Amino acid sequence: MVPKITTPSGYLHEYQKSVSNPIGFWNNVADTFYWHKRWEKTLEWDFKKPEVKWFINGKLNITENIFERHLFLRGDQPAIIWEPNDPEEPEKVYTYKELYDEVNKFANVLKSKGIKKGDRVAIYLPMVPELVITMLACARIGAIHSVVFAGFSANALAERINDAGAKMLITADGGFRGEKIIELKKTSDEALESCESVETVIVVKRTGQEISFEEGRDFWWDNLMKDAGTECKAEVMDSEEPLFILYTSGSTGKPKGVVHTSGGYMVYTAYTFKNVFQYSNGDVYFCAADIGWITGHSYIVYGPLLEGATSVMFEGIPTYPTPKRYWEIIDKYQVNQFYTSPTAIRSLMAKGQKWVEYINLKSLRVLGSVGEPINEEAWHWYHDHIGNGRCPIVDTWWQTETGGIMISPIAGVIPTKPTFATLPLPGVQPVILDNDGNVMCQKSVEGNLCIKFPWPGMARTLWGDHDRYKQSYFSRFEGYYFTGDGVKRDEDGYYRILGRIDDVINVSGHRLGTAEIENAINEHPLISESAVVGFPHPIKGQGIYAYVVCTDMPDAGEEELKKSILKAVSKIISPIAKPDKIQFVKALPKTRSGKIMRRILRKIAEGEYSSFGDTSTLTDPTVVDDIIKGVKE
Ligand code: WTA
Repeated sequence: MVPKITTPSGYLHEYQKSVSNPIGFWNNVADTFYWHKRWEKTLEWDFKKPEVKWFINGKLNITENIFERHLFLRGDQPAIIWEPNDPEEPEKVYTYKELYDEVNKFANVLKSKGIKKGDRVAIYLPMVPELVITMLACARIGAIHSVVFAGFSANALAERINDAGAKMLITADGGFRGEKIIELKKTSDEALESCESVETVIVVKRTGQEISFEEGRDFWWDNLMKDAGTECKAEVMDSEEPLFILYTSGSTGKPKGVVHTSGGYMVYTAYTFKNVFQYSNGDVYFCAADIGWITGHSYIVYGPLLEGATSVMFEGIPTYPTPKRYWEIIDKYQVNQFYTSPTAIRSLMAKGQKWVEYINLKSLRVLGSVGEPINEEAWHWYHDHIGNGRCPIVDTWWQTETGGIMISPIAGVIPTKPTFATLPLPGVQPVILDNDGNVMCQKSVEGNLCIKFPWPGMARTLWGDHDRYKQSYFSRFEGYYFTGDGVKRDEDGYYRILGRIDDVINVSGHRLGTAEIENAINEHPLISESAVVGFPHPIKGQGIYAYVVCTDMPDAGEEELKKSILKAVSKIISPIAKPDKIQFVKALPKTRSGKIMRRILRKIAEGEYSSFGDTSTLTDPTVVDDIIKGVKE
């Protein structure tokens, strides 16, 4: 088990060590795992190339570190507790031994269908236990999983399958989400029309709804599992071989296939999980994220299971059947650590106090927040009403690309301060750069958040596009990893994340590229161009504001056109990317070189109609006046 920091002086000591002797520090953590062969060299790195390698020539399998390492002591302990969407349906509990058997069985199924080490397997599943089983079965045989969030459209799914060249797709007939049923197989079928690489589709039965089946390509999960053996030897992986790909949005249209490796990711997620949440043996931990995003990968599946934790996985939504659902789950399983997003907190806060009254939340010891800045009001509500004023809130800052938590309080060790992610974890060396790339050394400053030294959990490349990896993270400031976030540091050295400074917006904790949304809007034959920006939204953190230029207004008028834009965005990306506000404009404000002046559009979306800063490069200032006039009308 990885070492655990339990005192403020322990933190200082470990942090110092991790900076003065990172090799010794990480060797010490990595030595707690089971390796077929210990690494020969701990780290090689060059942020200019860029190239990063950890635990070089080490050989391991991450699932042996989840199962074989724990079975003797924890075989009968629950690994995953699955809480279904409908509270009337019984929960499912998988002990480490039971989960191990299922993973081995499905690994054998994968092999029987021709999946080998290095092949890509796309997973488009709702929050059901089969999702965890599939991910770990892939890892068992060295296949690379690529989980696609079940809220994505057919088009988005196809794009991700094709980019990864996936040979297989694992999906379900459908999924339950609150009162809704999502048609996963139907969407998969639509996606697969344009995916040549997929040879086999395995379908989990969840809703029992009618679906179409393609003979020879499609197989029911249950039929294949029936006869599968419970023993499957783990493939020995090199530390640097990929474990998974997870797509995320960047500032250009195409999603980025972030690649995480077997060794470094394992060491980093386990270390950060144990320390940030102060997990102790026997605790029950509940992360309410969706496994379709990185938080679920690292902190429902890998981090907790690597540390032998009991991890609660919830299929539904926080407001179904009532806005008490999270609190009921916490009471039902006596959850000790609870991890969710500010959007969920704000939306539950907005439902009113009555939903948290008379619920027993005494088991809680630690509360976590992730994915977006948490505002002061939400922080206090979470602290006072859920944590009863006694549970530290760990406001964890990190990204799909960082693999695990980077800046966060260590629960009960680092004093918290509302809206501050506080201090870097050991092994993380943040710096703040001004726009010219100078390091701002003073304590109290604001600027671009960069990281100056590698950490084991960092993404190594973007699938099939190393050059884009360089462009996205290592070009803006040479020699540094650039996060895309703005940050402020106070007198105590505490970090407060201010949000994205690139063309990425964060809607309900979902990362969306404005270019992706614009491309979807522009597909409409009557639209010549559009510009999308974020604006402050009381629940979602950021809302989506689209300025749209039409070639011709259809006879049916604005409302109809708005509806068809929303439909197109849902179809091309996902309902989560639908604009909250659409404004039709005659033209977009542009510079002489043709660049859209988003700064101005952002201000207008925020409701500010003056002080636009330098507008001397604007070709036609009346465009801005027209837009403002449009808003006021
Ligand atoms: C934002 C999610 C403020 C940030 C784990 C980052 C946060 C992006 C926080 C990554 C936080 C994440 N406070 N902002 N505690 N955590 N972010 O890749 O802008 O989905 O760059 O990873 O979310 O989003 P991603």
